[in-house]
Order: sequence, then C-alpha cells, then structure tokens
Amino acid sequence: MTTELNWILAAQTGDISPDTNTLRVVVNGEAVCLYQLEDGSVHATQDRCTHGNASLADGYIEDGLIECPLHQGCFDIRTGKARTAPCTVDLKTYAVKVEGEAIYVAGDAA
Ligand code: FES
Repeated sequence: MTTELNWILAAQTGDISPDTNTLRVVVNGEAVCLYQLEDGSVHATQDRCTHGNASLADGYIEDGLIECPLHQGCFDIRTGKARTAPCTVDLKTYAVKVEGEAIYVAGDAA
C-alpha cells in the first residue's frame, strides 16, 4: 500500500529570491525554507535552524549547503543533515514537486 502525499501549493518559482535563492513559506502552520539550487532543483527543509532561533532563509547557499546566518553552521539542503559545527541536529526535510511555475510541498515532513 502506498501512502499518498498531501501536496500543498507553497509558492511560485518566481517568488524565490534570485539574490539568496531561498524563500520562507508557511506550510500547515510550519515555517519551511525553499531553496533553488544551481541545477534548478527545488528543495525544502524546516526554516528554523536546529541550533538556535535563526531563519535559514536568511542564510547563504554554497555547494548544496545552507549556512545559518547566526553562527554559520551548515546543513545539506537535499538531506537536511547537519554538516558543520555548531549544528548537530538534522533539519526536517519535505518532499517538493514543481509543476510549471507552481511549487508544492508535502504537508508532512519526510
Ligand atoms: Fe544556526 Fe546557531 S542558530 S548555527
């Protein structure tokens, strides 16, 4: 038996800032950060850093990692894995699908 994902329209591709390639959205009452990588793929994690009270949408993307703006800890955008100190707890990730310009995020974290 397969479980159907609950897709929620979260944003349009044009909403993602071309400066940061990130966008903070709220899905099912949860703050989620969308990322657009250089290959055009879109990914989603929880927006709040697991180390402290920072929005990852204000961070910096480099080589598939998001660097937190507060203490510069890094997470893998695709997997949510904490990669550098002081971050040790992984981010929740969300499945994403893009149809045309529409970005859908699964209502429940993966
Ligand atoms: Fe993100 Fe400290 S709040 S690294």
